[in-house]
Amino acid sequence: MGHPSVDAITQEAREAVAAAQSAAELEQVRVRFLGRQGVLTQLLRSLGTLAPEERPRVGAAANAAKRELEALLDGRLDQALEAERGARRARARLDLTLPGRRPPRGALHPLTRVHDEIVAIFAGLGFSVAEGPEVETDAYNFEALNIPRDHPARDMQDTFYLSESTLLRTHTSPVQIRTMLVQKPPVRIIVPGKVFRRDVADMSHSPMFHQVEGLAVDRAITMGDLKGTLELFAREMFGSKSRTRFRPSFFPFTEPSAEVDVLCFVCQGAGCRLCKQGGWLEILGSGMVHPNVLRNVGYDPEEVTGWAFGMGIERIAILKYGIDDLRLFFDNDLRFLRQFA
Ligand code: FA5
Ligand code: MG
Repeated sequence: MGHPSVDAITQEAREAVAAAQSAAELEQVRVRFLGRQGVLTQLLRSLGTLAPEERPRVGAAANAAKRELEALLDGRLDQALEAERGARRARARLDLTLPGRRPPRGALHPLTRVHDEIVAIFAGLGFSVAEGPEVETDAYNFEALNIPRDHPARDMQDTFYLSESTLLRTHTSPVQIRTMLVQKPPVRIIVPGKVFRRDVADMSHSPMFHQVEGLAVDRAITMGDLKGTLELFAREMFGSKSRTRFRPSFFPFTEPSAEVDVLCFVCQGAGCRLCKQGGWLEILGSGMVHPNVLRNVGYDPEEVTGWAFGMGIERIAILKYGIDDLRLFFDNDLRFLRQFA
């Protein structure tokens, strides 16, 4: 015959299809038998070389073999593709026993948390929040607060001056003036904000820090109200076991004046580096608003009295969290900050 028998080719093709393991291998089988150079293709192409009486039989058999092989390949290809899809799905399947990937979670800065807590405590006492500019005039930062020209606070050593008459505010007290100039008594405000001083940074000082000013002006406001308010604040902020003390002090814009200290948590009063051996940490200055200040804003000191305080947020935060160096608040070290998440 000179031609491989159609039966033999068909048998070989069936076995090759059965042995193929993947869609790619099935494609190789298709090319081998049905491609342009494929065994069956060549057989069909060479029918003309057969004896005329052989042609119909071999041709019909070869065509039948071609159709059978095409059908076989199609069927197996569908199976193979489905199996491969299944394998891909199995590989991608969720393993619910794996620990989850935690998204990085943000947290409020400890100073923000203390700020929010201070605001919440005073909001509960009926105070509203006021704000003022960080770039302030000498007139509001000093003059209107009864701080005379030759006062040491106005020294270039202590204040960042921007010009003859403007500076970075050294405390939040100028917002007392700004508020009283536009508001009639009664006044009950707190004023959170940044303040700036040419202080050398150390464990308890920073050249930029935060204060919250408090101001209450009304008829018959007394030093007793001030003391009661600040004691309540300290209990809320530090807990009922905390120890605070009122210490007479001096500010040009209050009379009488007092500072509040909290027992140093590091040494419990024995004296250490943090409290500069004093055993106590100062958290705020306060006092009865000076009559000159009331007069400077057009209030009548015979009619109304008031008290004010200015507390340092960093100082309160180190006491609350037991942190022995307030510079940590400004280092942005995530290992430190994460502890407050
Ligand atoms: C004042 O700034 C007054 N304006 C406070 C005041 C307001 C008195 C109203 C009377 C009436 P003093 O300079 O003491 O006061 O600062 C107040 C608080 O800010 C201090 O008790 C302390 O808690 C904090 N503080 C002061 N300097 C620094 C600093 N360099 N770094 C961090 N905190 C500071
Ligand atoms: Mg002070």
